[in-house]
Amino acid sequence: MTKKFGIIGNPIKHSLSPLLHNYWFDKYKIDAKYSIIEVQDDNFSNVISDLKNEKISGINITLPYKQKIVPHLDMLVNDAEITSSVNTLYLNNNGKLVGDNTDVFGLQAAYLKEVDNAESKKALIIGAGGVSPSVILSLIKSGLKNISITNRTKEKCFFLKNKFKILNIVDWKLLKEEIKKYDILINATSLGLKNGEDFDFNFENTKNNLIYIDTIYNPLETRTLKYLKEKDVKVFNGLDMFIYQGQKSFYLWNKINPEIDQKLIEILLSKLK
Ligand code: ATR
Repeated sequence: MTKKFGIIGNPIKHSLSPLLHNYWFDKYKIDAKYSIIEVQDDNFSNVISDLKNEKISGINITLPYKQKIVPHLDMLVNDAEITSSVNTLYLNNNGKLVGDNTDVFGLQAAYLKEVDNAESKKALIIGAGGVSPSVILSLIKSGLKNISITNRTKEKCFFLKNKFKILNIVDWKLLKEEIKKYDILINATSLGLKNGEDFDFNFENTKNNLIYIDTIYNPLETRTLKYLKEKDVKVFNGLDMFIYQGQKSFYLWNKINPEIDQKLIEILLSKLK
């Protein structure tokens, strides 16, 4: 029987996850299908019972449900336990519904392995929304000791500092001035998303050897990323992070580490043009 997998989130129409996972199911000749699953009014009960009854074999969770799903699960493991942010669900051998997090791996695999002398680098995370706990943990796991965070709504920074004591909180109003102090800047806000709002200033005063990471991949280049790229700053968009988180989810479900081949990358890029 064809196994079912899927993703929940809102908005979810434009998710590339079905393309990613169905490509790999095809490549490894696994009889399975990955689809978008609509959730009405944040009601997870159908998805949860389908997982428990093994009608669905695995689910990805994206914004805004990564934290909201937690009370519906039997247990959190690994990075999900540390971040309380879940993006992958499956039933374990004891019939328990498990929440894991592959976003942390996604960020590390995509960019942070390239950071030399991580202990001496200063990072600023811009944004304290759904993806931020995973960004913080990936920086910590990569050996950074100096990690700051700023957010328009400051309370969300305090909430994260309760969990991750290492964080320094920077006032949102000082952002434009502050960015010159950092070796790594990570945009974890929704600023720059296609058809959305953007930063109301250019990132002019940055260090020459800055690394700029955008968690956004739609568009592939946000205005800020494009601006910094033209100034020869080392920039990364969110596409690699997206692919690597998917690779690890696929592994958790199928125990196959799927290859990220050129054809797959070309298909994904063609969808983002
Ligand atoms: P949520 O707020 O539900 O966690 P998210 O998509 O996970 O949603 O996160 C959105 C992030 O982008 C938040 O850091 C948000 O800042 P607030 O916490 O102050 O809302 C940030 N963001 C979105 N629009 C913004 C804007 N116009 N200016 C500054 N930050 C913005």
